[in-house]
Parts: sequence; structure tokens; C-alpha cells
Amino acid sequence: MRANASALFRATFGVGPQAAASAPGRVNLLGEHTDYNGGPVLPVACAARTFVAVGSAAPGVLEMVSARDGQVTRIDYREGRAQGWGAYIVGVMRELVALGAAPAEGGARVSVAGDLPVGAGLASSAALTVAAAKALSLLAGTRLQPRQLAGVAFRAEYDHVGVRCGLMDQMSAALARPGRALLLECSSLAACHIPMAGRLLLVDSGMRRELAAGALNQRRVECEAAVARLKLELPELQWLASWPATWLPRLKRALPEPLRSRALHVVGETARARFGAQLLARGHLKRFGELLYESHESCRRLYDCSTPELDTIVAAARGAGALGARLTGAGWGGAVLVLLGTGEASSGKRETKVVDEIQRAFRAGYGREPPITVVRPSGGVRRERVV
Ligand code: GLA
Repeated sequence: MRANASALFRATFGVGPQAAASAPGRVNLLGEHTDYNGGPVLPVACAARTFVAVGSAAPGVLEMVSARDGQVTRIDYREGRAQGWGAYIVGVMRELVALGAAPAEGGARVSVAGDLPVGAGLASSAALTVAAAKALSLLAGTRLQPRQLAGVAFRAEYDHVGVRCGLMDQMSAALARPGRALLLECSSLAACHIPMAGRLLLVDSGMRRELAAGALNQRRVECEAAVARLKLELPELQWLASWPATWLPRLKRALPEPLRSRALHVVGETARARFGAQLLARGHLKRFGELLYESHESCRRLYDCSTPELDTIVAAARGAGALGARLTGAGWGGAVLVLLGTGEASSGKRETKVVDEIQRAFRAGYGREPPITVVRPSGGVRRERVV
């Protein structure tokens, strides 16, 4: 894949790239829709990555090509607006300029390749923006810290593209470590790395979703409306996730639907993610898995971000004895994460049973088998050799 980004660069622009970087997608274990509410998240980075190779171009010009369609887009990023994935690169470039970390002449050629599916709930846009921020800052001869790369990538998506996301995906793509989950408190950005026990499978429902257009922005508006209303009860409340879990009756009285359900999800999911991180750190995988099922139920019933396909997969996993399963990422399509134990002699048999049952149930409902892959918790953004 690394070679693909370089080869695509060479084939498109007739010269080799000068710098390259890659960043991973993520699978969130717990803490869904908590990041933009100031709560905790617990993602692992997956092995699938996005590779970005870059070289210089005329001042103000961005020339971009992706292995996906091979089309070259050429725009003046200071004025023009790009469509699709190009808009993310424009956002990164503008943010690097604001930081004084853009290539000296202020123009760049960019090629993108990788094996991360787009719109599958694996944070492909964050992998793209974090990898692009790293590659373009290397081209400029500046060394940005991983947290700075995450900041550039976040502002590119939030301010320039207009997706009202939180910081989980960018921070995961920047800070992740192999074999570890990342516990990130999104109000303070305090982070710690927790060894990931158990085996993770990812079941792709095949349903894709466009973030910017979608329900994520609407949920965010609902959460803000809930905070505005709850401030009348608790004036110092800054984040929905900070509402005291012992005050649920008061929350229920104060909020009309659907704000009540959204807020109950966020407060419950915040407690689950923090408790889950402790369980994972102590190796209590069984109880951790139960939290995954509870989280899915909360996403489905209270946050209303599941789909019948995702529910079918979770129910099949549960019926076949998986330790836990839940939709991962924003929802409204995308993938389900399944947790399996590894310790016992019967683990292999259990895994076969879980996989068979998911495929059988999905085939019965939708006439096809969903792709199932193993998630290997991987490392964050890195420089790549130019080949
Ligand atoms: C999307 C956003 C993230 C996060 C998740 C839901 O992936 O980009 O910031 O809000 O949805 O947990």
C-alpha cells in the first residue's frame, strides 16, 4: 500500500514523491457519541491504513489524486473549494498554513492510497487528514507532535468540511499504540494506553453513510439543546457527559423527548466507557463484553443510531456466545465489533460458531454474507519511506 501511494504519485505526476506518511482507521470499543459531549472514548487503531505521498507544486496549488478513481483534481486552495475527499486535504493545507507548518512555496501534489474502506464507520476521513498533515508538514521540513497533527486534522474536518465530529478519530489516528486501546478523556484530552486482551472481529454490514450530510450533525444540535436546558438545573454544566449519573430523575424531568433519550445515552455511555477501561486494564473481559452489549442497546434505543442490519449481527453474535458485540463508530450503517475470549481451549470452536451464526442470520435477512475480519490493534501515524 505504501508502494501504491508512491507509484500512483509517480505515474500521475511523472516524478517521485518527496515525503510520505500513513495513519490507521479506528474501531471504538466503548464511548460512542461521547467525544463531542466531553466524555471518554476507548478506541483501538486497526491495521488498515491510509497512505499519503506528497511533493511540491506551484504556489497556492494543490494537485490531488486517489487510487480510488485515478482522477486528478487541481485547485488553488487559497480560494477554491474542492469536492469529496479533496475538501479534507484543502482543510489540512489551510490549517498548516495558519500554523506556519505548510510547504515553503505553499503548493503540493498529493497522492492517496490504502485499504481503509470509506463510510464503513472506521474513521477513514481522520486517517486521511492525519496522514496528510504528517506528510505535508514533513514536506515543509517541520516536525509536528502527534497531538498537533490531530488538531490540524480535526479543524480541517470540523471547520473546513463542516462535519461536526468530536476529536476521537483524529486522536486515535495520531496517538494509538500497537496492542493497546486508547482511553481518551475528551474534555481534558488526557490519554492513557491500556493493553487490549481478547480477540476482536469486525463485521461490515455493507451499509455506507455520508457523514457531513447526516444525522451526526443533527444529534450534536440535540445534545447542545439538552445542555442549554440542563444549565437551568445546574448552571456550571459545560458538557452533557458531566451531568452527575446520580441525578438521572432530575434529568428525565427536565428534558422533553428526544433530548431526554439522547442525554441518557451520553451519561450512561460515559459511565460505561470509564468502567470498561478499568475492567480491560484488570483483564475482566467477560464483564467488559457485557458493557458492549449494553452500549449497543443504548445506541439503538436511546441514541437511535443503529440499523436493522447492525442489530441482526449483534443479536446473532450474542446468541452464539460472543463475549460482547456492538455497532462501532457513528452508526447509521458501518460495522459491528465482536469480542471473543482467547484463554480457553474451546475459544477456536466458539469463534467458528459465532462467525457461522452471524453469516447464517445475515444471509437469512439480507441474502448475502457480510465480510468479517480480525482487528489487530495497531500503531498511530508514522512517516513512511518514499519508494
Ligand atoms: C464519528 C465522529 C466521532 C465520534 C463518532 C461517534 O465517527 O467522527 O468524532 O463522534 O462518530 O462516537
